[in-house]
Amino acid sequence: MASKNTVGYNRSMLFRLFRHFVFVKQKIDDQLRSKYYERFIRLYQGQVGKNLWVRQNGKIHITKGGKLEIGDNFILGEGADLFVGREGNVKIGDNVFIGKNSTLVANGSVSIGSGTQIAHLVTIIDSNHKFSDPNKPLAHQGGDVGKIFIGKDVWIGTNAVVLKNVEIGEHSVIGAGSVVTKNVPLRTVVAGSPAKPIQK
Ligand SMILES: CC(C)(COP(=O)(O)OP(=O)(O)OC[C@H]1O[C@@H](n2cnc3c(N)ncnc32)[C@H](O)[C@@H]1OP(=O)(O)O)[C@@H](O)C(=O)NCCC(=O)NCCS
Repeated sequence: MASKNTVGYNRSMLFRLFRHFVFVKQKIDDQLRSKYYERFIRLYQGQVGKNLWVRQNGKIHITKGGKLEIGDNFILGEGADLFVGREGNVKIGDNVFIGKNSTLVANGSVSIGSGTQIAHLVTIIDSNHKFSDPNKPLAHQGGDVGKIFIGKDVWIGTNAVVLKNVEIGEHSVIGAGSVVTKNVPLRTVVAGSPAKPIQK
C-alpha cells in the first residue's frame, strides 16, 4: 500500500508536470501569435525586425494606411495594445519592451527609441477629442492629433500617461503614475501630474 508520503510525492510530481505542460503550451502559443503578427505587419506594408514577441492577449492593430516599423527584439506584454490609426506612423527601435496591459494609440506619429523600457499599465496616446463647440456632441467634433517622441533608453514607470506633443529625452525616467504633458530633457527623472523633475 502506498504511504501518505508517496501519495504526496506523486501529487507534487503530477502538479510539476502539469505546470511544465502549461508553460510549454504558453510558449508555443506566444510563438504562433508572434509569427501571426509578423505576417500581419508585413501584409500592411510595415517593417519588423527579428524576435518579435507578442505575449498572451497582446494585440497589434494597423488601420489601412497606417505605418508601423519595429526593430529587433521587441516584446509586447500580456494584454498590451498597439493601435496604429489610418494616418498613424509608429517607429519602434531595437530592444524595446512594452509591459502588461499597456496601451499605445497612434493617430499621428509616435516614435520610441532603442532600449526603452515601458512598464505595465502605461498609456501613450497622441490624440485628443476636439471639444471647443458646446453645441455639437463631442463624438462629432473630430480629433486633434499630435506627435510623441520618446528617446533611446528611457524608462517609463507603471501607470504613467504620455500625452501628445511631448518629447522625452534619452536616458530619462518617468515616475510611476506620472502624466507627461511637457517635454522632458535628456537624463531627467520626472514624476507627478503634471510630471516635473524630481532630481538632476
Ligand atoms: C521615479 C522613481 C524611479 C524615483 O525613484 P528615486 O530616485 O528613488 O526617488 P525617491 O523615492 O527618492 O523620491 C524622490 C522624491 O520624488 C517623489 N516621487 C518619487 N516617485 C514619485 C512618483 N512616481 N510620483 C510622484 N512623486 C514621486 C518622492 O515622494 C520624493 O519626494 P520628496 O523629496 O518630496 O520626499 C520611482 O519613484 C518610481 O516611480 N519608480 C517606478 C517604479 C515602476 O514603475 N516600476 C516598474 C518596473 S518595470
